[in-house]
Amino acid sequence: MKTIIFFNNKGGVGKTASVTSVAHMLASQYNKKVLIVDLDPQMNTTSMFNEVNFMKQFFEVYKGEKSGTDKSVEDLLLDTELDIHECIKKTEYDNLDIIPSYLTLSEAEERMKADVRTPQQFKLKEHLEKIQDEYDYCIIDTSPSVSIININGLVAADELYVPLRCDGGSLLGAAIVMNLYKVVSRYNSKLKMGGMFFTQWNGRKNVSKSVYNLLNEVFGQYIIPVNIGTSKNVEESSLMQIPLLAYDSGKNKSKVTEDYLKLTEYIFERI
Ligand SMILES: Nc1ncnc2c1ncn2[C@@H]1O[C@H](COP(=O)(O)OP(=O)(O)OP(=O)(O)O)[C@@H](O)[C@H]1O
Ligand SMILES: [Mg+2]
Repeated sequence: MKTIIFFNNKGGVGKTASVTSVAHMLASQYNKKVLIVDLDPQMNTTSMFNEVNFMKQFFEVYKGEKSGTDKSVEDLLLDTELDIHECIKKTEYDNLDIIPSYLTLSEAEERMKADVRTPQQFKLKEHLEKIQDEYDYCIIDTSPSVSIININGLVAADELYVPLRCDGGSLLGAAIVMNLYKVVSRYNSKLKMGGMFFTQWNGRKNVSKSVYNLLNEVFGQYIIPVNIGTSKNVEESSLMQIPLLAYDSGKNKSKVTEDYLKLTEYIFERI
């Protein structure tokens, strides 16, 4: 199993759009067995692939009585003894499973820190090692923060991909991610920089050119030669909770679907 993480601590750069599109394309176009891990308490990826009953969750959170049947990534991070299979849910798509997130994942961090017996950063890695032979890819979505939960993702990963938008916040995000990559590489020596790529790209804007040129000067070796364009199809598919390629399944695909197919091919062919 190859574990891939999409991370940028800047929000709204296309992490979830990329995770949901690439994971579904690897499963449907390349016939690979794919497991998504949602590390974001916002549950955006989770709600696309796993029915989320917000009413039920509301009462569970409010009353502090979570049912034992709906295990999520939070349970996995808090319980080193838990069988990871209990957290894996099938999706309606062939070859595609998910370990869902849960709203209270954001609170889990404090409880993780309270457990001093196990190093905090290695909890996800230890669980994923047990299913190495069951999947071809594990694709991790992250929240926009430098949290111990996201560090768990980086420690468990083989490759890091950084989606960027052409704006000032993305510039800072790229700098923070690269520094974090260096730190985590010290204790996860197999972590490779898969690359950075631009999303919601509009090459006609001057700001796009300026940000692109600056990042190319500093991180040129890491920039993937695929830019993901801007399209309402991405927003619509996420609103309808359908992965991009399933939403745009006709013969004449939109440019953004073709862009994501190219990105998936790039990731697939990287050794
Ligand atoms: N290529 C695109 N074209 C048009 N809209 C896009 C594109 N990619 C993402 N979006 C939209 O931009 C918003 C942010 O995208 P997304 O949720 O993927 O970012 P994110 O990095 O996961 O955000 P967060 O940090 O909050 O988790 C969403 O509304 C999404 O539908
Ligand atoms: Mg997201």
